[in-house]
Amino acid sequence: MNRITIAIDGFSSTGKSTVAKRLAKSLGYIYVDSGAMYRAVTLYAMQNNLIQENCFDKELLITQLGAIKISFKFNEELGFAEVYLNEQNVEKQIRTLEVSQFVSQVATVSEVREQLVLQQQNFGKDKGVVMDGRDIGTVVFPDAELKIFMKASAEIRANRRYKELLERGHNLSYDDVLENVTTRDRIDSTREDSPLVKAEDAIEIDNSELTVEEQLETIKELVNHILSK
Ligand code: DC
Repeated sequence: MNRITIAIDGFSSTGKSTVAKRLAKSLGYIYVDSGAMYRAVTLYAMQNNLIQENCFDKELLITQLGAIKISFKFNEELGFAEVYLNEQNVEKQIRTLEVSQFVSQVATVSEVREQLVLQQQNFGKDKGVVMDGRDIGTVVFPDAELKIFMKASAEIRANRRYKELLERGHNLSYDDVLENVTTRDRIDSTREDSPLVKAEDAIEIDNSELTVEEQLETIKELVNHILSK
């Protein structure tokens, strides 16, 4: 076996994508940010007035799913694939707090999940993939050779996300970010369809006190161990 499937799941803002991107690059694997796909569907719903505060027209979104095309295009300069919604680069637009506030609701819709899971499975059909999300080790790739479950305290995660959003020029408060992180944790872990749970065979990494380098080193050791079998 020389190419494996690596599933990285965990709570929001645990730094999954930072580690997953670096890991994919060093292994020469493709990296797929499954959360970006749920965010792109959410952006579509916002742009088409299907979701607003206290109002989500789930049924109408379901009828329009066929009109939503999500793709990834590799950006040489950035070194990772950016997400496109109907041929438009939406990488920046999907990272706003507004999208974060609606995305967990959109991700509860089974029809949305069904469509995105099929596309995610297709991205990983040849192995050599690192995918991060909430249900990658449980639903998308239950047979993945390596499953990681990332966690960190809500305060540490909110602080990381807050700094990241400030750096990108967003104007918000730490309390709003903490509230968003904890609300998403609750919705993501309690929804009926594919809730965020640690797969039985996943290896848990609490990265509250770990640097990215330390996390990478741990995961690479696990990969090498699997590949040497
Ligand atoms: O990883 P992220 O924070 O960008 O994900 C955004 C939301 O999308 C998250 O709150 C829950 C949902 N999601 C999901 O339900 N399943 C996935 N595999 C990935 C994300």
